Amino acid sequence: WQETKSLYFLHKNVSVRDATFPGFIIASPSLEPNYYFHWVRDAALVMKSLFKYLSDKEKIVFFDDYAKLVLQHQNTKTNISSLGEVKYKKDGTAYTGPWGRPQNDGPALRSLTLIEYFLYIKSNNLKYSLPDDHFYSLNPKSHAVIKKDLDYIVKVWKEKDYDLWEEVKGDHFFTKMVQAEALLQGMKVANLYGDSISAIKYESTYEEINEFLNKFFNVSQKYFFSTINWSGGHNTKTTYIDTATILAFNQIKHPYNINSNNNFKKVVDTFRNLYKINKNRNEYALGRYPEDFYFGGNPWFLLTAAAGEYIYKMVDRVNRQYKISSSQFPKDFIPGFKIPQTKQFSPEQKNQLLQALFSYGDEFLKTIQKHVDLNSGRMDEQFHRDNGYMLSAKHLTWSYSAFLSMKKARDKAQVIIQIK
Ligand code: NOJ
Ligand code: NOJ
Repeated sequence: WQETKSLYFLHKNVSVRDATFPGFIIASPSLEPNYYFHWVRDAALVMKSLFKYLSDKEKIVFFDDYAKLVLQHQNTKTNISSLGEVKYKKDGTAYTGPWGRPQNDGPALRSLTLIEYFLYIKSNNLKYSLPDDHFYSLNPKSHAVIKKDLDYIVKVWKEKDYDLWEEVKGDHFFTKMVQAEALLQGMKVANLYGDSISAIKYESTYEEINEFLNKFFNVSQKYFFSTINWSGGHNTKTTYIDTATILAFNQIKHPYNINSNNNFKKVVDTFRNLYKINKNRNEYALGRYPEDFYFGGNPWFLLTAAAGEYIYKMVDRVNRQYKISSSQFPKDFIPGFKIPQTKQFSPEQKNQLLQALFSYGDEFLKTIQKHVDLNSGRMDEQFHRDNGYMLSAKHLTWSYSAFLSMKKARDKAQVIIQIK
C-alpha cells in the first residue's frame, strides 16, 4: 500500500507543471521551509529509484526530459559555483541567494543516474530521443552531460566543499564515495566510446579517491567520520557519526565488510540511545547525526529507510557469498541474534543469519510504518524524536524515493528468504 502511495506522491513532484522545462523535480511542495527547488542531489536520487518503476517507453520519456534539464543546468550562466551549484528554480536558472556551495556530491549522483539510464539504453538496443552526443562525446567542445560531470569530478575532487546536509565545509565521506563510484561507472561509458584516454583518467582518479577514503576511518571507535579537514560552516559536531555514511554505502556495489558493518552498528546504536521514541517504544528511528538541531534534530524517513535498505541488500550479498565468517560482523550486530563464532558458516547457520537479517531490516520498515500518515501515506522530511509527529518539509520527494528503493531491496531479499 505504501509503495503505491509513495510512487503516486513522488510522481506529483516530478516534472511539475508550472516549470518552464519538463524534468523539473521539486524537493517538496513546501514553501515554509521553502523546498520548491530542484536540488541536484535529491533529483538524481529520485530519478534513480524511479527508474526501476518505469517501462522502457516511460524511461525514455522521463529520462530524456531529465537529461535535457541537466544540460540546461550545467550551462546556465547563473551558476555561481560551476557544476557544484546546488539547486535550481523552476525557470531553469540557479538559485543565487546565500547558500553552502559548492556541493560536489551533486555532479557525481547526477552522472551515476544518467549512466545507469544510458547503459541500459545501449545494452538493450533502445533509442533515446536526443542526439547521440547529448550524453557522451569524444569532442572536447561538446556539451555531453555525463562527460561534463565526470571531468568536473576529476578536476575538483581534492577541493573542499559543503556536505550533503549543506552545513559543513571540508572533505566528506559521502561526497568522496559517490565521486569514486561515478568515475568507476563512467569508465564503462568512456570505454564504450573508445575513449581510452578518459577511461584511464577516470580509473586512476577513482583509485586516488579510494585511497583517500581510508583517512575517514576512526580506528579506535570503528566508524567512518562524515567529515575530515573541517574548513568552515557549522562547527557543532563532536563525533562526526552520521547516517550519510550508510547512505553512501547504499550507492555503491559494496561487499559489506567488518568496517562498514561496524560503522552501521555505531550509527544505529547512537540513535537508539538518543531518541525517546527509540528508547521508550523500542523503535529504530534514525536521523542525520546526533548533534543535529535542524527543526530540533529529529529522525528522518529517508535515513530510516536507508538503514533498512542497507540490511536488505546485505541479505543478497551474504547469500551470494561462498564463505561467510563471523569476522565480517561486529558482536551483537543483529539485535537478539547470536552470530555463530566460526570461520565458515554451515548452510543451516547461513540460513538462520539470512532470516535474522531480513527481520532486522523489517524493524526499520516497521518504524516508518508507525510514523507515516496512515490515511494518506504522506511522508514529510522528519518525525518528532519524542512523539513521532511529522515535521519540516511536507511530502518530501526524497522520503518517497528512499522508501521505494528500500522496498525494491526488500523484494529481492524476500525471494531469497522464501527459496531458503
Ligand atoms: C538548510 C539545509 O537544507 C539544511 O540541511 C540545514 O540543516 C539548514 N539549512 C541549516 O543550516
Ligand atoms: C536538506 C537536506 O539536508 C539536503 O540534503 C537536501 O538536499 C535538502 N534539504 C532538500 O531536500
